[in-house]
Amino acid sequence: MKRKKSPGPVRLAIIGTGGMAHTHARNFLAIPGCRIVAAADIDPARVAKFCAEFKIPAAYTSARELLAKSGCNAVTIVAPDAMHGPLALQSLKAGMHVLCEKPLALSYAEARRMAAAARKSGRVNMVNFSYRNWPALDAVAALVHRGAIGEVRHVEASYLQCWLSSKIWGDWHTSPGWLWRLSSKHGSRGTLGDIGVHIVDFATYPAGPLSSVFCKLKTFHKAPRDRVGPYILDANDSVVLAVEFANGAVGSIHTTRWSAGHANRLYLKISGTLGALEIDSDRSTTAFRICSGPDLDRAQWQEVKAPPVPTVYARFITSIRTGRPAQPDFARGAEVQKVLDACFKSDALGRPVRV
Ligand SMILES: NC(=O)c1ccc[n+]([C@@H]2O[C@H](COP(=O)([O-])OP(=O)(O)OC[C@H]3O[C@@H](n4cnc5c(N)ncnc54)[C@H](O)[C@@H]3O)[C@@H](O)[C@H]2O)c1
Repeated sequence: MKRKKSPGPVRLAIIGTGGMAHTHARNFLAIPGCRIVAAADIDPARVAKFCAEFKIPAAYTSARELLAKSGCNAVTIVAPDAMHGPLALQSLKAGMHVLCEKPLALSYAEARRMAAAARKSGRVNMVNFSYRNWPALDAVAALVHRGAIGEVRHVEASYLQCWLSSKIWGDWHTSPGWLWRLSSKHGSRGTLGDIGVHIVDFATYPAGPLSSVFCKLKTFHKAPRDRVGPYILDANDSVVLAVEFANGAVGSIHTTRWSAGHANRLYLKISGTLGALEIDSDRSTTAFRICSGPDLDRAQWQEVKAPPVPTVYARFITSIRTGRPAQPDFARGAEVQKVLDACFKSDALGRPVRV
């Protein structure tokens, strides 16, 4: 659906001013036609420091006050996962265009409510599947969709981090920014909700929707009595999925925070009847590899540079200003959330579950 154009500068507000909000601020400040007019955080010192750092004119300690007083017409929600649903619904109700961090919600039911409210509002709504910013992913998706590797048969995807077995991003034992991610009481759905959501999007955007999942989740002992202060460390650390795609292909998807030696590595290999495509972010995010044509009989690979793509941040601003729809939207966020719900159900039942 084409929306009404809003060609003037976008007046953006940032809700949640922790770690990831810095990436949002840097990206939005670099986009012509976007002004950051306000920010909100429940922590007054943090929002004050953030506004000073990025020269943002107005700081609030509640989203409600920001929505009522700041004069913004768009928001980006960068608060912890449990707040995404309530803050997005509140923002849409106030007439805002909304970019929301991933995972869109804590459940498919909540994500569907958000997608329905967004559709009804007619406002731009996007979820920050930030690996869509990588040119290699778009190029691989376009090749698969165009039939360049024939019928898809087999998919391997993984997302590996190592912050539980290292101090690569600081000591998680003493950092609330990491500890909430380990605790379901603090709204985390574990590795599956945090980075599993990314790798499911990364695999299914090019290879197509899943029809079933067989999931194993694992939470390891990490601290005395499995807690640090108020944080009960019960959220999953490692995820292994055996999957089937609607197009009949099968595959494996896995993700963990225990992968020593990999700070943040995404890997995807899609094999079809006429060839295969591969992305390995430790090698490149702007180039991919292909084995097809005469290379098939020699099992050789060519590296191909991918054309640049606009970031999700830029697509959000362009969509507001031009009225043209942009992806990934809340409906896509809900589709991925449906897969996550099926994973939790499969793990609990110990058998494959239809998506
Ligand atoms: N797309 C990505 O690649 C990516 C990367 C990192 C984090 N994230 C997502 O970004 C979100 C934030 O992560 P983070 O690492 O910045 O966490 P963080 O803990 O560093 O920051 C979250 C901030 O939100 C604030 N907050 C909590 N409740 C709030 C509320 N009701 N209103 C306003 N502010 C509130 C907290 O005080 C804190 O300052 C999470 O949903 C996470 O999944 C996405």
